[in-house]
Amino acid sequence: MRKPDPCVLVIFGASGDLTARKLIPALYEMRAAGTLPSNLKVLGVSRREKSDDGWRDELAASAKQHAKGWDAAKWKDFASCIHYFAGDAAQGAMYPALADRLREFDESAGTKGNRLFYLSVAPELYEAIVDRISEAELVTEGKRWCSISPGDRSWQRIIIEKPFGHDEASAASLNRALGRVFEEEAIYRIDHYLGKEVVQAMLVLRFANTMFEPVWNHRYIDHVQITAAETVGVGNRTAFYDQTGAIRDMIQSHLLQIFAFVAMEPPTTMTADDIRAEKIKAVRAIRPTLPDAVAAHGVLGQYAAASTEGAYAELAGVAKGSTTETFAAIRLHVDNWRWAGTPFYIRSGKCLARKCTEVVVQFKPPAADLFRGVPHASGGVEGNRLVIEIAPAQRTRLRFESKVPGTPLTIAGVEMQADFDKQFGVQALEAYGPLLVDAMRGDQSLYKHRLEVEGGWVAVMPFLDAMSAPIRKSIASNYAQGSWGPAAADAMMARDGRVWHNE
Ligand SMILES: NC(=O)c1ccc[n+]([C@@H]2O[C@H](COP(=O)([O-])OP(=O)(O)OC[C@H]3O[C@@H](n4cnc5c(N)ncnc54)[C@H](OP(=O)(O)O)[C@@H]3O)[C@@H](O)[C@H]2O)c1
Repeated sequence: MRKPDPCVLVIFGASGDLTARKLIPALYEMRAAGTLPSNLKVLGVSRREKSDDGWRDELAASAKQHAKGWDAAKWKDFASCIHYFAGDAAQGAMYPALADRLREFDESAGTKGNRLFYLSVAPELYEAIVDRISEAELVTEGKRWCSISPGDRSWQRIIIEKPFGHDEASAASLNRALGRVFEEEAIYRIDHYLGKEVVQAMLVLRFANTMFEPVWNHRYIDHVQITAAETVGVGNRTAFYDQTGAIRDMIQSHLLQIFAFVAMEPPTTMTADDIRAEKIKAVRAIRPTLPDAVAAHGVLGQYAAASTEGAYAELAGVAKGSTTETFAAIRLHVDNWRWAGTPFYIRSGKCLARKCTEVVVQFKPPAADLFRGVPHASGGVEGNRLVIEIAPAQRTRLRFESKVPGTPLTIAGVEMQADFDKQFGVQALEAYGPLLVDAMRGDQSLYKHRLEVEGGWVAVMPFLDAMSAPIRKSIASNYAQGSWGPAAADAMMARDGRVWHNE
């Protein structure tokens, strides 16, 4: 595995929440683990004035709270590479001084002209900052050179946060704007879900074992469920959330990425290009949902009032009569030979019964039922089920039927579990850390390609389009907090003869 190159990580949006709560704690964890390049510099850029030391003190307080394994001496060592630069990144005026500061780092710290720009600012600023970076001629080398042979050539890469676009057209427009300045190989569209161990472990589970891949298809798999459920509500993020909703916030981004790992074909090699090529194909094989099928394939909801939090529709900052969904469940079909006829049910919601992110692979019943009439402890055969828990536990569970010891013959489901935390005794790191290191190594395996992002938007647009307005009608307070969403989501499954996995 290539070591990360020396570089300057330039974080635009340095005084923001993401930088303090996620990026810096993640970098600190990676430094403590010895994974960062020794000559890394972190330069935070935002408008308000701060000194290097002032910013370090703010970040120390946050890292203490959010990083695993706080150690004052290790922080001191890490903090010495952190610097601050005050300026408006959307305006060209600050860039000559920024360029000088970067050159100083090259000389004093040996960062070799390598720059990793991180756009941790509001999405409205993405294009302006990319244009200013270009005008200031901070992108000097095609990254194509460096990703192939590190050597002496410098590289410039850019990490873009989500949301990546608001719809299909805006995502394509942002991709074009980025493409005018950076080549695709230098564009890192981040999805922190892909930094979670279990998502990567899915590749190993599928492709390093003999027993799963032969049955990983429509002949043996009845359906797949992908769920991201939260117990908390929107809280004070209404201004952002009311413009976004569950489909944009979770399904289009994170859950379709998880989908891609479940549905993709085996890559030819474990290189970024080969992995991403297969993910692109999986996302693009999603059958477009026709306007008249949207109501049958999608359910939206908004949580009702409870003692903990008021109804979504009544929260301060939510537009009157808002039809933004806090719950969405959609059914997707994949038009390829592997998945023809096996639906993927994808759901996400707030104020649900349990916090979990998981993939459930439900296998078909055995071809011949030799045990017809034999009593079953749970009332009926549920079939084999593989549950891949991504959060909060990192665990994989395989359910199968077994004979209950004793007589007469009775069948019951049993489970085998692999708990990653217990098995390996390693605490999962903040997902951003390994992803940042990957970007410093030039490894895009866990970053999204332009075509994946655009394909994801194509898949969900039918549920967001004006044509989908009927499924948005009367969603206000259509599910209770602490439930599993609107009754219509259960009815959608029941029509298909299936049930949600809510255990
Ligand atoms: N927070 C999260 O957990 C999270 C998770 C996933 C994705 N994201 C995405 O990450 C991005 C940042 O989120 P955030 O929550 O950190 O937002 P935030 O708290 O609002 O921080 C953004 C920062 O950008 C700075 N800024 C604004 N205009 C600027 C300009 N013209 N030039 C330089 N700096 C400027 C602001 O600092 P000054 O006022 O000092 O300039 C502000 O502190 C967003 O795109 C968000 O969607 C965030």
